[in-house]
Amino acid sequence: MIGETFKSLFDRPAEARSFTPGRVNLIGEHVDYNGGRVLPTALSLGVDLAIAPREDGRIRVHSDKFDGQVERDLSETASDHWSDYIVGTVQLARAEGFAPDGLDIAAATTLPFGAGLSSSAAVTVGVLKALRDLSGSDHSDTDLAVLARRVENDFIGMPCGIMDQMAVAIARPGQALSLDTDSLAFDLIDLPDTHHMAVIHSGVRRQLNEGRYRIRKEECDAVKTHAGRDDICRMSDAELATCESLPAPLFRRARHCVTEHRRTLRAAEALSQLDMLAFGALMNASHISMRDDFEMSVPAVDALVADAQELGATGARLTGGGFGGCIVACIEAGKRDSWRDALLARHPDAYWVA
Ligand code: GLA
Repeated sequence: MIGETFKSLFDRPAEARSFTPGRVNLIGEHVDYNGGRVLPTALSLGVDLAIAPREDGRIRVHSDKFDGQVERDLSETASDHWSDYIVGTVQLARAEGFAPDGLDIAAATTLPFGAGLSSSAAVTVGVLKALRDLSGSDHSDTDLAVLARRVENDFIGMPCGIMDQMAVAIARPGQALSLDTDSLAFDLIDLPDTHHMAVIHSGVRRQLNEGRYRIRKEECDAVKTHAGRDDICRMSDAELATCESLPAPLFRRARHCVTEHRRTLRAAEALSQLDMLAFGALMNASHISMRDDFEMSVPAVDALVADAQELGATGARLTGGGFGGCIVACIEAGKRDSWRDALLARHPDAYWVA
């Protein structure tokens, strides 16, 4: 399908393709730049890409989400345009020796943007995977995820952690990726088919580059300076207690990092043991910590989470960068449809994603 689209757009066949899923994080939020554990899973929604090389330093991109074709120079800097992700990725892959001097790209995506489901990581990792195929390079999926994060951090200017890129590069639907964001060691844990991990958009769009994500990152950096360590998620109780002397709200930010990391370790264990009640309780506790300690929720999301829990979810929480976007809820498979209908009836702006 994407191959045919490519051919009709560029009048020549594509030479490599990739499909990269979006991700939803089940638990472990804002810990991936603080040395903590995260537990995302892949969605079946994602980004299809088809590419072919050019030799004139130009990049031509067509996305089914936007009108028309965009043409950029490979040497350009970021210009606050959606195609920046592609320019930055090809530039970096070229510097690393596995991209041609220009590219034609067609993209088709089933992922909603601005929903906290890693559409940008799916694009950057997807382009890198297609370039790996085209060049025959031997980069591992982890190598590509690390490069994709550099595109976000250095080219786009978004100070994100490594979770999204690792999740979309490695996770598969039906499996959770239990990832140590410090060492990048990971395990894949099967999700039980007795339960569904529902993703529901609150109707509140958020943009991570709008500044609030960056402020949280800077607050965590201040905690790192105080603690004298980068992996503040792994502070002991005694080390955490020393953060009480810091100006508000830094102690609460630190407490979220420490407790969220510990909850995620316990959630991975609960999932392996199929103890979904324990898993759900950890999701609920995670939401409270995100709402009160990390202050990354908004009233519409809190209301959606509260109703998801009240209507029978085993657990529910905000997911992703925060300040809007989606919730994730663990619901018994047999109850899913009636639960969804009741929840959406209470929240007319919310919509079902997966
Ligand atoms: C965004 C970032 C990730 C991570 C999450 C919050 O998705 O890209 O690196 O920090 O927010 O857990």
